[in-house]
Amino acid sequence: MLAGKAVVVTGAGRGIGREIALEFARRGARVVVNDLGVSVNGAEGGEAGGETPADEVVRLIREAGGEAVASADSVADWAGAHRIVETALDRFGRIDAVVNNAGILRDGMFHKMTEADFDAVLGVHLKGAFNVARAAAPHFRRQQSGAFVHMTSNSALIGNLGQANYMAAKLGIVGLSKAIALDMKAFGVRSNCVSPSAATRMGDTVPVATEEQRLRAERRRSMTADRIAPLAVFLASDAAREVTGQIFAVRRNEIFLMSQPRPARALHRAEGWSVETLTDHLLPALRPSLVPLDRVSDVFSWDPV
Ligand SMILES: NC(=O)c1ccc[n+]([C@@H]2O[C@H](COP(=O)([O-])OP(=O)(O)OC[C@H]3O[C@@H](n4cnc5c(N)ncnc54)[C@H](O)[C@@H]3O)[C@@H](O)[C@H]2O)c1
Repeated sequence: MLAGKAVVVTGAGRGIGREIALEFARRGARVVVNDLGVSVNGAEGGEAGGETPADEVVRLIREAGGEAVASADSVADWAGAHRIVETALDRFGRIDAVVNNAGILRDGMFHKMTEADFDAVLGVHLKGAFNVARAAAPHFRRQQSGAFVHMTSNSALIGNLGQANYMAAKLGIVGLSKAIALDMKAFGVRSNCVSPSAATRMGDTVPVATEEQRLRAERRRSMTADRIAPLAVFLASDAAREVTGQIFAVRRNEIFLMSQPRPARALHRAEGWSVETLTDHLLPALRPSLVPLDRVSDVFSWDPV
């Protein structure tokens, strides 16, 4: 399915990206393992000297007989993103898929969120996904094929406390993916989102204060990052040639096709609406259909299967 293909996986030195890179390689794809090697909040630079996380993944792939090259550029940087794509072209002569996976977290309640924390998270997730996808797009267009897989989050699709920057970025990625799917359909290019749940260092940043939160953190450990990889690799492969513009969620052995916003109910009034008629009619008609202010844990209320 993937033999001979060349793929870019961003943020592939650790966590989910690492497992996706390893799975691609096992399937015969040649992999650009991109990772800046930063801390979870993106602030601290990579390990000085020695083997970086990206180098380690490349070594593992080569030891298993595969082909891979490390890239230490930041996806948040336009020129850096182009270098990531150029690495695939220079080393493998082609590029067939991009997995936009690199990410950081800077959680905090909205009323305390700093501009720097908002910009940093938008910069890596949303701008980073745009940068790398945009760098690959002319090549996909020329060869009339290519697949994008972008990591979004249940936090964005449903909601979570203290993640205004992350929710804005990850829901932005959903819009970006749909736009790419529409704009590049004519060139045989596909774009889909994956919303993963996995026990990585990113998940470990969720505060554990109550007994319920402690039990939840314990259950998270069974959701290993390798469970995400097959779906991402499938979506990047020709086996998924009819799949584009979709959002899938995955945790442990569960896979969900997520809904996308559509009108839920309609109200019409021949004379048009005023504040008074809205007061009289809107809430009685729509109250039962208003979406509750729920969070991920309200919607995914059962243990991962
Ligand atoms: N773990 C989860 O449950 C979960 C849930 C929802 C979404 N996600 C998303 O999945 C993706 C992977 O998350 P993870 O849990 O494996 O996190 P992780 O922190 O283990 O890995 C992220 C990697 O991205 C790299 N990175 C950060 N900034 C970068 C940049 N500017 N350029 C290149 N690389 C950069 C980091 O060095 C790190 O190795 C992220 O987009 C995250 O938002 C994860």
